[in-house]
Amino acid sequence: MERAKVIPKSYPSNVLNKNWNQRPCYFKKNSEKFLKAVNEMEVRDDDVWLITLPKCGTTWMQELVWLVLNNFDFESAKQEHLELRSRFLEFDEVLYDGEGSIIKYSTEMKSPRLVKSHLPLPLLPSQLWTKKPKVIYVFRNPKDAIVSFYYHLRNYQITSFLNPTDYAQDFINEDMLTHQHFLHVAEFYALREEPWIYYTSYECMKSDLRSVIQDVCKFLNKNITEAQMQQMLHHLSFEEMKNNSKTNHIWAAQQFSRKFNKEIGDLRFIRKGKVGGYKDDLTAEDINKIDDWMNSELKSHNLILNDLLLQNN
Ligand code: A3P
Repeated sequence: MERAKVIPKSYPSNVLNKNWNQRPCYFKKNSEKFLKAVNEMEVRDDDVWLITLPKCGTTWMQELVWLVLNNFDFESAKQEHLELRSRFLEFDEVLYDGEGSIIKYSTEMKSPRLVKSHLPLPLLPSQLWTKKPKVIYVFRNPKDAIVSFYYHLRNYQITSFLNPTDYAQDFINEDMLTHQHFLHVAEFYALREEPWIYYTSYECMKSDLRSVIQDVCKFLNKNITEAQMQQMLHHLSFEEMKNNSKTNHIWAAQQFSRKFNKEIGDLRFIRKGKVGGYKDDLTAEDINKIDDWMNSELKSHNLILNDLLLQNN
């Protein structure tokens, strides 16, 4: 994919004190209209924004937050595709005109909206940093996210890589992408103590989903009964979500298939759901190379992986 350097339209200097002129920002080429529309998008006070890097457990958290925001309405959740209950901004590029019409769909949504995006902090709407609605960020060990991404691209037939090894190698070599990976998380990690930010990890969700649900309820000022908690734990379990036709992005796959005239067989968006699953797919040599890349990136941001994964407490 061709990428271009993007100069953000507004700098969130009121939340992070840094030299934004030196903040590398790259996005798909010719995306000016989309990025402008996002930058100027109206943010609502009662919005909830879910920001992640791809394949970090976004869908899992999206379903969780939607249910908390909608009084644990499991029946409605089972009836409508998640992509239609909670809009993903970057679908604009994939499914719509690439010029910001997704904003129209988001505007039509009733409050409270749950908006999903993988955009880095400086490319998000400028009102986010003044209105400060609730923002949730989920991080995941990049080794698992890289392997997960490889299978995702294979599912949609949008990669020519034939195995995770080649994909991982390309991923860590692509300067524009790799430098942004840890910057993406570093900026939200730096904001994690802000009362309008909830920062967590896929690993936390796997090890103690109940606590994450409790945290999200507290963060969004919602009560949960023990009966609702039991339903949540069941509904959000890997097996349930894997077999749920409304959480496997089937609607998006159908749109994609129609738009690009591609046959996408039995899409299983929810795939393996493991921490450390990368070990089944990557060789020792791949893992060493990714570790070297991660260590150098972490060092340059003065970060420790286990801190980012919240695995030190
Ligand atoms: P794997 O490909 O490693 O299985 P995203 O939604 O950000 O694209 O993340 C997708 C990843 O989250 C996939 O990882 C998917 O299987 C995993 N996932 C989704 N729902 C899950 C659940 N209920 N339990 C565990 N993992 C889940």
